[in-house]
Amino acid sequence: MNNERELLMIPGPTMVSPRVLRILAKPALSHVSGEFVEGFAEALELQKKLFGTDGTPFMLSGSGTLGMEAAIANLVERGDKVLCVENGFFGEKWEEIVEAHGGVVERLRFEWGKALNLGQLKEKLSSYDYKAFTVEHVDTSTGIANPIDKVGELAKDTDALYIVDSVCGTGGMPMKMDEWNIDYCLTGSQKAVGAPPGISMFCLNDKAWEVVEKRKTPIDDYYANLRRWKPIMDNPRGYFATPAVGMVLGMLEALRIIDEEGLEARWRRHEVFSKAFQAGIGALNLESFPAKGYEAHTLTVPKIPEGVSDSEMRGLMRIKYGVIIAGGLGKLGGKTVRVGHMGNATSNDIVATLSALEMSLMELGYDMDAGSGVGAMEKVLTTHLSEA
Ligand SMILES: Cc1ncc(COP(=O)(O)O)c(C=O)c1O
Repeated sequence: MNNERELLMIPGPTMVSPRVLRILAKPALSHVSGEFVEGFAEALELQKKLFGTDGTPFMLSGSGTLGMEAAIANLVERGDKVLCVENGFFGEKWEEIVEAHGGVVERLRFEWGKALNLGQLKEKLSSYDYKAFTVEHVDTSTGIANPIDKVGELAKDTDALYIVDSVCGTGGMPMKMDEWNIDYCLTGSQKAVGAPPGISMFCLNDKAWEVVEKRKTPIDDYYANLRRWKPIMDNPRGYFATPAVGMVLGMLEALRIIDEEGLEARWRRHEVFSKAFQAGIGALNLESFPAKGYEAHTLTVPKIPEGVSDSEMRGLMRIKYGVIIAGGLGKLGGKTVRVGHMGNATSNDIVATLSALEMSLMELGYDMDAGSGVGAMEKVLTTHLSEA
C-alpha cells in the first residue's frame, strides 16, 4: 500500500517538518532579492548558534562530503601531513579526500564500534607536527559517538587544526565548537538538522581562517575555494555562484524550528530517544553494536540476532508496517541495522518503529515476548520525556 505515510527512520535523510516543506514548495526567489538576502543572513546567524561558534559560517549547495572536501582543499597543502582518526566508515573517508588533495595521511585506527582512545591520540599528536587531524563526532556506520569535547582539551596544546565531521551529530547532540577548540566543523542538512539533503554547512574559527589566508600555494579547487565564498557569507547580497535559494530558505525554517525548541531541550530529547531505544532493544535481547556509554543519540545500531536475515526483517518492516530503517554499512552489512531517531522524530515515531521491528522479528521466528521492547521503551519515555 502506498499511502505516502511511510516512516523514514534511517540515519539520514530524515523526515522533514511540514513547515519546511511548505517553504520548499514556494516559487523561487531572485538570489539578490531583499527577502532572500535577509533570509540567508539570518540562516547564517542561526548556523553559528547551532555550532556554538563566533567563527565564519559557510552554507553551500552540496552534501556533507562537500564540507569534508572543503576542509582539506582549503586547509591542507601538498605534502602536509594529516592525522585521520578512524573508527568507522566515515572516518576512513577522510584519507581518500586528503590523498586526493596531495596531503599525506597518517592513520590512527580504532576498532569499529569502540570510541577513540584519548591517550593514544594525545601520544600521536605530540609525536609529529601535523597540519590537521580529523575526528568523527558520530560515525553513522557504527553508531559510536566520540568524546569530541575531551579531544578539544588535547587540541588546545597543539598547532594542528582540529577538524570534526558532525554530519550525524549537530542538531541532535551537543556541539560547542568554540568551547571545545574545534577549528573546522561540518554538518549536512539531511540528518539531525531536519531538512532535505542538498545543503552543506560548516564553520571555521579564526585559527583555521588564518591558515587559509596564509597558504603558500593556491587552493586547487574552484567551487570549494572558500576565499571566493567568504565575501558572500559576510554579505549574502554578493555573487560568486547562485545559491540554492529554495533550499537556503528551507534551511532557515529548519534552523528556526531548532531555535524555537532550544538547543538544550533538543539535545535532551535526542538523549531520551536514544535511552528509550537502547532500553527497547535490550528488552528484546538484541545487542547494541557501539560500546556502552558511547552510543550516539541520533541513531541506534542493534546487531542482528543469529538466524534472522536483516534484509527479510527490513523488508517486512517496510512492506507490512511502512517503516524504513537502514542496513549495516560497509563491513557491518548483514550484521547490524541502523535506526535513525533524529531531527524531527517524535516519540510516536520511535514507538511505531520499535513495534514494527518487534513484529517483524516475531514473524521471522525470533523468540521474544510480544510488546516487551515497546514496554521498556514506554517506561523511559514516560519517565524522562518532558511535555513538548
Ligand atoms: C558521519 C557522516 N559523515 C559524512 C557523511 C557524508 O555526507 P553526505 O552523504 O551528505 O555527503 C555522512 C553521510 O551519511 C555521514 O553520516
